Amino acid sequence: MAKDGVNRREFVARGLGVAGAAAAVLPRLKGAPAVQSGKSPNGTVNYGFIGPGSRGQQLLQHLSRIDAGRCLAMCDIYPENLKKGIQTIGGKPEPYHDYRELLARKDVDAVFIAVPLSEHFRITKDSLEAGKHVFCEKSLVFKPEEVHALRALAAEHSKQVIQVGLQRRYSQFYQMARQMIEKGLLGRVTHIQAQWHRNGDWRRPVKDKNLEEQINWRMYRKYSSGLAGELASHQIDVADWMFGSSPVSVVGVGGIDYWKDGRDIYDNIQLIYTYPKGQKLIYHSITNNAHMPFVGLPGVREVGEVIMGDAGTVHISLDKGTGHGMWFREANAPKYGKAGTAKENWTAGATVMEGGISKGFPILPGREFEMSDADSFISKEVKYAKRWLYSKGVMVPEEIRDPVAVELEDFLVCVRDNKKPKADLQVGLNDSSGVILSNLAMDEQRRVMYSEIETMGKQPVKLARG
Ligand SMILES: NC(=O)c1ccc[n+]([C@@H]2O[C@H](COP(=O)([O-])OP(=O)(O)OC[C@H]3O[C@@H](n4cnc5c(N)ncnc54)[C@H](O)[C@@H]3O)[C@@H](O)[C@H]2O)c1
Repeated sequence: MAKDGVNRREFVARGLGVAGAAAAVLPRLKGAPAVQSGKSPNGTVNYGFIGPGSRGQQLLQHLSRIDAGRCLAMCDIYPENLKKGIQTIGGKPEPYHDYRELLARKDVDAVFIAVPLSEHFRITKDSLEAGKHVFCEKSLVFKPEEVHALRALAAEHSKQVIQVGLQRRYSQFYQMARQMIEKGLLGRVTHIQAQWHRNGDWRRPVKDKNLEEQINWRMYRKYSSGLAGELASHQIDVADWMFGSSPVSVVGVGGIDYWKDGRDIYDNIQLIYTYPKGQKLIYHSITNNAHMPFVGLPGVREVGEVIMGDAGTVHISLDKGTGHGMWFREANAPKYGKAGTAKENWTAGATVMEGGISKGFPILPGREFEMSDADSFISKEVKYAKRWLYSKGVMVPEEIRDPVAVELEDFLVCVRDNKKPKADLQVGLNDSSGVILSNLAMDEQRRVMYSEIETMGKQPVKLARG
């Protein structure tokens, strides 16, 4: 393992997928590598962690409290982050500066990958080929050719788990919203508005200016899909999930209009996606104002979605790892579907009828909903709404956990028990396609059809090797 720091040349050559870097090949196991067992004698999954940077350290904090897995090895090209990652997970994972050495270990069943986007495909590919199960942060892949190549590769490695870090799929709030849609409680869902508004330049301090691109990779198209990949990817996935399909097309406008600091990714994006039945996702992300004009959730800033149907609306957010949700009913909801009429649905209580129109009801999965004399009026109302939901068959989970912890544990359980993850390959590839096509629509200022992804990037993938 190299003990020195990483200079820019090494960074380019080793890591961030720049064409022309020297070719190097993962030490191949003879023949097709066996899928790692995923079952150590005590059922614990042995894993390696690649890229303990900012996100990686958050994941490691959660992983340090999850018994289903054990970190045997950790890799980063940046020694400072490698050290922090090892401190965060505790125990004594073996440190590496070259992920291929980590992948060559036979005792590692699975890997977590939290490197910059431009590196996702390369490391995921090498991990699958080394027989590992893969958890990769969102957005799963960067380029159209990687969408096709990973689909083909995953088919060859169908026994290995591939999961993408779209944690809203693991949130009880979002699951509940999805169940409400399935039960017809929102009626026919036609529009979703989503926003992620921040006030800040998104830059990280750089001690050595030669490391600017390495540290601030998000600012540069060579490594990053910008706001679409870093933020919208979560919400494009939410809309696909709630609508139950991918969009047909996307139009959008983006610009570098506020932060004129050398970045070449947009600092504001506005997108409209059309889904097969004419439903629309209307999307905003800006970086000079964190106000949340579209999502009405008290105390929640920056990020959220509004899901609108002809019988009701849900405002929902995963703000700093904590779910929030409000549910409003439509005053004049039409008769709808097999769930019966909206009126029938709402005969449960007078306060539900009235309050649900004007003030909305909090969606509170996981809080106990037994009423007692000690409860305030509001508290009783909340619990009543919850019980009513439960009576309609909308599951009310027992406890609230950070969905990031849930997704990580779920990955390990999927590896251990040969299960399919919720945020699986298809979810990840659909999401990545959405990001790629969103940027294309803004760059070319035209309506981009989702079917275009099938003809994009069909030439073989060229990998930079470090
Ligand atoms: N799911 C979420 O909510 C969420 C939140 C933040 C970030 N992310 C994703 O996590 C990923 C990482 O983001 P970040 O903010 O932590 O970036 P970061 O730059 O802070 O961390 C990335 C780490 O990977 C290391 N690295 C780069 N190339 C490497 C290589 N070839 N081998 C080993 N290590 C390498 C870097 O040195 C760095 O330590 C991105 O894909 C990002 O989109 C997801």
